[in-house]
Amino acid sequence: MRDASPQSAAETVYLKDYAPFSHLVDKVELVFRLHPTATRVVSRISFRPNPAAPAKPDTEGLPQPDREKPQLVLHGEKLKLIGARIDGKAASPRLTKTGLVCAVPDKPFVWEAEVEINPSENTALEGLYMSNGMYCTQCEAEGFRKITYYPDRPDVMAPFSVRIEGDLPVLLSNGNPGKKGEGFAEWHDPWKKPAYLFALVAGDLACHRDSFATASGRKVGLGIWVREADIGKCAFAMDALKRSMAWDEKVYGREYDLDVFNIVAVDDFNMGAMENKGLNIFNSSAVLASPETATDANYERIESIIAHEYFHNWTGNRITCRDWFQLCLKEGLTVYRDQQFSADERSAPVQRINDVLALRARQFREDNGPLAHPVRPESFVEINNFYTATVYEKGAELIGMLRRLVGAEGYAKALDLYFKRHDGQACTIEDWLKVFEDACGRDLSQFKLWYSQAGTPRVKVEESWADGTFTLTLSQKTPTTPGQPEKRPLVIPVAVGLLARDGSEVVPTTVLELTETRQSFRFKDLAERPVASVLRGFSAPVILERSHDAADRLFLFIHDTDPFNRWEAGRALAKDALLSKLRYGTEPDKAYFAALGDLIRDLELDPAFRALCLALPSQDDIAQALHDRGVVPDPVAIYRARREFSEAMAAALQPRLAALYEYARVEGPYSPDAASAGKRALAAATLSLLTLVDGGHRARAQFDAADNMTEQFGALSALVSIGSAEDELSRFYGQWKTDRLVLDKWFGLQVGLAAPEAAAETAKALTQHPDFSWKTPNRFRAVIGGFAANPAGFHDPSGAGYRLVADWLIKLDPVNPQTTARMSTAFETWRRYDDDRRALMREELERILAAKDLSRDTAEMVSRILA
Ligand code: TRP
Ligand code: ZN
Repeated sequence: MRDASPQSAAETVYLKDYAPFSHLVDKVELVFRLHPTATRVVSRISFRPNPAAPAKPDTEGLPQPDREKPQLVLHGEKLKLIGARIDGKAASPRLTKTGLVCAVPDKPFVWEAEVEINPSENTALEGLYMSNGMYCTQCEAEGFRKITYYPDRPDVMAPFSVRIEGDLPVLLSNGNPGKKGEGFAEWHDPWKKPAYLFALVAGDLACHRDSFATASGRKVGLGIWVREADIGKCAFAMDALKRSMAWDEKVYGREYDLDVFNIVAVDDFNMGAMENKGLNIFNSSAVLASPETATDANYERIESIIAHEYFHNWTGNRITCRDWFQLCLKEGLTVYRDQQFSADERSAPVQRINDVLALRARQFREDNGPLAHPVRPESFVEINNFYTATVYEKGAELIGMLRRLVGAEGYAKALDLYFKRHDGQACTIEDWLKVFEDACGRDLSQFKLWYSQAGTPRVKVEESWADGTFTLTLSQKTPTTPGQPEKRPLVIPVAVGLLARDGSEVVPTTVLELTETRQSFRFKDLAERPVASVLRGFSAPVILERSHDAADRLFLFIHDTDPFNRWEAGRALAKDALLSKLRYGTEPDKAYFAALGDLIRDLELDPAFRALCLALPSQDDIAQALHDRGVVPDPVAIYRARREFSEAMAAALQPRLAALYEYARVEGPYSPDAASAGKRALAAATLSLLTLVDGGHRARAQFDAADNMTEQFGALSALVSIGSAEDELSRFYGQWKTDRLVLDKWFGLQVGLAAPEAAAETAKALTQHPDFSWKTPNRFRAVIGGFAANPAGFHDPSGAGYRLVADWLIKLDPVNPQTTARMSTAFETWRRYDDDRRALMREELERILAAKDLSRDTAEMVSRILA
């Protein structure tokens, strides 16, 4: 094995090169002697030759006598090796750029090593690091190698025992608690796991405790560990956890499998949360909530992330991934499961609309640009760059399509078989599809293309009517994506219903299977030409191309019995109107506003659904839609057109809005339940429209009277968007300056909703604010990410927005490559824009790429964006 040069350390890894590891691990014992700058980690690992492994690795460069012996190749990064032994005798491994290589006996042996690491210096937040005086770890995907030498790959699974020594009151790790005393604690995790699920936490923490009795009657101790000051903000997360545990038993027959389940909240975290076995670690924004400090949207997010991480215990931990190319095996399935949970706990149609909104905003954007990649990628440079909307959200859509194709019963049978057949294993997408084939007797070879083919398919709908027969002709085409010039036809489940002119359903929802490039489906013996509701419930992640007249759209917006498509019809009307306004200066159609006016007053309809119908397509959606039609989008023009459209909508709905606002307001003490949240969402949607026409007096009154963050922040947002919130912003700051999560909202709101010409200046000023702690990912994301999500501000024709973001990415990269790489996606749509903007963005991207010692994470992202 050759030493890896810096370039070869950044080499591409390919799925096709997978080979099992040379050894199996029977047992891992770890001792941590905690110290802020010099933590010692002592490892004792039982290895045994893996009969399934290929021939031994390249031994070139080793001393002659060792060349004949088997070699042990371990990962390791930023470790100081103090000493190593094999079966108790001193060993002399050779250190490489990626770890070490050591000659080992041709039989089972025990490897012992002692290393020193520096958690205080670890700002990348991967491995063992410190956050506000607390030690914590993040090992997914490849962070364990920064803790000790180990085969840091998910197909190496072992039981872990951990002893933590440190002068801190709370010492936690995975599994069940063992011996505990002054300055130490021991933990034992009986379930074999890959190293990426290892976790350790040590600090001065308070615990919100509860317990859960499993279906088979075992009692599980539950704990949420937070700073003392946050102990009053854990109740909702605990309730969500217990509901998740009960739901997984009821719906998937999955019980929890340890004596304890702990969750820790940390302030410095790169993502939402992490599913470490028995010890989930959460970004504090995904746990902490109180009525005064968290909005309804925050509560909803907490519930879904708690569920997501808990559900990973079976889909991810008990059954894990063979290699990182299979990431969607755990993530797509677990997202699908958390979406099902939220649909069951709240409103299914509203959940579906929100999931589709998120999919279109993030995944369609990704899939239609330079970063497009398959749900199961075939190569990567840095795996952290593949925790994407495609792997997660499109991955979840693939599970939903499978379920639609095999039916709910088939799905349940396949999942039972999956858990039975693969418990304790590290699996592939092939294993996953095989359980469906075996349980349902269906050939999934064409379906498998969804995992390897990138890009969002376009499905064209043509209709014809003759002699009582209605014919739907569907054709599919997937545009080319980087590295994939040819595309094959996919299996696309298209749910269709037919409506009669009086609005009644003549053909209830039927799933058509589009498997060819072009296919016709006939509906016979109909009394009159029906109106087709196509892709009900958004039955596949595709873009529908339908040259449908406005009258049919309006009809569906008024009559569709499928709530998703009813909402979708309204959305399409609004989008068409916005596009015509931008392209031809056309004024919006009064019929749409009239239908919308009726819908929002319909007391039979869920207020949350009505609120969704009042929201316009985002600025980015409109830019993408223009681009799809061959028109170069101007973000500033889009901002203005959207604003004028909102004003026209407010004026048209005006007589009804004030009454609706009063009706939707929730009296009495705040409760985060779905029904109250839905009403508050409707009140907020009406308030933001009213604010465009009433000068802001209602929003000011709501801001002054609010006793919960949903109403306070809703009012503040409405005022910021009309540029009239100076006083409220400073009062809000005064009230919340010591609450870091609320302060993130304060920062994010100002940059996110600033008017185009003021946004870059506002963002720049906020980066000078004493509370802008840029090394904390939440705060950095609030300001820089929030600004990049303000399209008209970011795309200011001067280029000031691009420069600001690039400057900060260059500054953050050496500190936290993962977060920097993620945020470089602000530039992913650069090719959509005009020559001047493109040139400015290219210049900034090239400047980032030229930065000294740029991380491999950011280098990979920026070069893919530029390619
Ligand atoms: N597996 C985690 C989840 O989906 C996400 C995750 C991956 C993560 N890498 C991470 C979280 C790094 C924090 C830091 O739930
Ligand atoms: Zn996950």
